[in-house]
Amino acid sequence: MTQMPHETSTAPAAVKGALPMLHVKVKILRFDPEKDRKAHWETYAIEAQAGDRVLDVINEVKWYHDPSLTFRRSCMHGICGSDAMLINGRNRLACKTLVRDVAKDGGTITIEPIRGLKVEKDLLVDMEPFFDSYKAIMPYFINESPAPAAERIQSEAEAERMAHSSNCILCACCTTSCPIFWVNGSYLGPASIVQAHRFIFDSRDEATQQRLNIMNQNTGVWRCRTAYNCTEACPRDIPITQLIEEVKRAVMYQQA
Ligand code: SF4
Ligand code: SF4
Ligand code: FES
Repeated sequence: MTQMPHETSTAPAAVKGALPMLHVKVKILRFDPEKDRKAHWETYAIEAQAGDRVLDVINEVKWYHDPSLTFRRSCMHGICGSDAMLINGRNRLACKTLVRDVAKDGGTITIEPIRGLKVEKDLLVDMEPFFDSYKAIMPYFINESPAPAAERIQSEAEAERMAHSSNCILCACCTTSCPIFWVNGSYLGPASIVQAHRFIFDSRDEATQQRLNIMNQNTGVWRCRTAYNCTEACPRDIPITQLIEEVKRAVMYQQA
């Protein structure tokens, strides 16, 4: 891909055994609320290196083809969760998706905003409803007992129970791939349930009952139809549907 203007190349013209460049078309669903009545596709021809990620080619489009292209990203390493988008019809993080895994030489990569949230501009969606659901599950540690002299100890087995759910980076890939969330935005959604799971199954937290009550409301776990879209979409390989089932069981038996 093209270098930034201030960079100079030190690479030899052809490296023995190097993977060939990929010539791809990047087809992006564009929408500018100040100009457009509805979204439209625009396509850019990009030359990508074998190790480039989809976020690299999107940066290439912004830096060298159209600086008005709007999208969210920060860490570039799959940690911040800010660059979730629909890539070839599937929710993924652009910085964790290699170009060569989604397109062959001469092929096309389609990129759209994640679904179920209002598009502000291009690939940028309004995340407020998603974070409102997150706030609704009280995503913070609650323990009113006097603090012990040292740490609040957990056994390995206790820590294991919340190991998956504490890996969540709140990228919204799961919630915005859930058909129940698409048709009913009041459903708290899989990401919020994963976050609730993280505290419900934390042996040190004392608000289990309050959280189970939130999960038992008609916006909570019972809306899930176990369709597995969320699990397939998670870039952290969190077994979301299994965690939702664990929360359902905890609600049913009123204990974690
Ligand atoms: S398993 Fe439940 S939360 Fe996940 S996509 Fe299906 S309905 Fe939505
Ligand atoms: S559970 Fe996975 S897909 Fe859902 S918000 Fe967390 S990291 Fe993203
Ligand atoms: S930019 Fe942070 S997760 Fe992709």
